Amino acid sequence: MSRLEGRRILSRRALLARWWVLPVAGTVGAFGYMGWYGSRVLLGKQRAGAPQFVSGQPQRVAAISELAQDWAEVNFTYDKRPCTVLRIPRAVPGGLNLGQTHYVAYSRICTHLGCTVNLVRDPEVLAFAFNYRPPPDANHPQLGCRCHYSVFDPLQAGEAVFGKANGPLPRVRLERRGNDLYATGIEPAPKLGD
Ligand code: FES
Repeated sequence: MSRLEGRRILSRRALLARWWVLPVAGTVGAFGYMGWYGSRVLLGKQRAGAPQFVSGQPQRVAAISELAQDWAEVNFTYDKRPCTVLRIPRAVPGGLNLGQTHYVAYSRICTHLGCTVNLVRDPEVLAFAFNYRPPPDANHPQLGCRCHYSVFDPLQAGEAVFGKANGPLPRVRLERRGNDLYATGIEPAPKLGD
């Protein structure tokens, strides 16, 4: 046997002796990625805190009669940003309370990369399309972004509760004027990706 052939046989043997390295490295990498992804989509979300409204031009956004029951919604544009006003079953920080009736309004620009969020009413859609099953005490409509499946809870002041978005949706300040709701200010647009 020539020297060259001998070396080839040796390196083939060395390769065969280490066949397990690739699958083990792949498995470790996959579990590492799953751990990182799981913590990224569920943990480390920013809290909404007290609202930091910046006053703007007052603008009528809806008649109160258009929001006749809980989870009624009206979309509008304010400060050149798509927004939504919702009637909700309980008070949230930054919302408007008229007796026992509560409203809140949010920018619909997702704080991940700027797609538009929409109200998702069906919990099964949240479970299957967004891979998110809210806890029993949060089993109500959520604002969802279909770009990368982030979910924001309207009853937690618009905080991100699932997905790649970390920051809460900016809130819009509401006022009642006669039979209408007006927007009179909005929280600053966050840096996307924060
Ligand atoms: S832009 Fe909304 S989740 Fe990415």
